[in-house]
Amino acid sequence: VLLICGSLQTKSSNRALLEVVRSRLVGGATRVEELTNLAHIPPFNPEHQENGGPAVAELRDRIARNNAVVISSPEYAAGIPGALKNALDWIVGSGELYGKPVALLSAGTTGGHYARDQLIRSLTWQGAHIFAQLGVAAPRTKSDRGGRIVDPITVGAINDLTDVILRIGQLPPDDRLKLVEQITGAAGVEPGHIAPVPDT
Ligand SMILES: Cc1cc2nc3c(=O)[nH]c(=O)nc-3n(C[C@H](O)[C@H](O)[C@H](O)COP(=O)(O)O)c2cc1C
Repeated sequence: VLLICGSLQTKSSNRALLEVVRSRLVGGATRVEELTNLAHIPPFNPEHQENGGPAVAELRDRIARNNAVVISSPEYAAGIPGALKNALDWIVGSGELYGKPVALLSAGTTGGHYARDQLIRSLTWQGAHIFAQLGVAAPRTKSDRGGRIVDPITVGAINDLTDVILRIGQLPPDDRLKLVEQITGAAGVEPGHIAPVPDT
């Protein structure tokens, strides 16, 4: 599972959400890794699609070699951070997210409703299967002094989302698509944009 934090801040509530995901997964058979070079990905230029440099190559490689991706993103002015959108633009053409299961989290003042809707639309248009999503409003009220998420309801909800990640690869294609359709439908994304489940 690849974790991607859309915030570049060192003390990030979105990274804190991803740490709950990581804690749920460590100790099991699942390998977890985190993308750490978001700030080093150059501005997207379609002319350089074939050779975007080492940071883009790493992004593409990490997405390709993981079976699922979890993105936790803040919301900035009712949208996603530019650094995250920029990174995602680099993989529209190369297609590493096509048919890939992706779970979305957003921690922030409001729980990032607009950020999640933007991600659901944009990622679905590039073929990703958004099968789970969760917003966490006012994350500081759910954290301890060190920034760790400790609110039991929030931890429980993230654990539930993480458990779906573990099952997603084994779900029959129709069941996976039902999860995806629920989320895309609620976000107003046209079903024709949903990619088919890839053959395993
Ligand atoms: C420039 C800026 C714009 C923001 N806009 C929104 C917003 O539109 N909606 C919202 O819920 N929170 C907004 N916030 C608050 C962020 O959600 C909050 O700072 C969040 O904790 C950032 O995530 P992080 O802790 O992972 O960096 C904004 C914060 C900044 C710095």
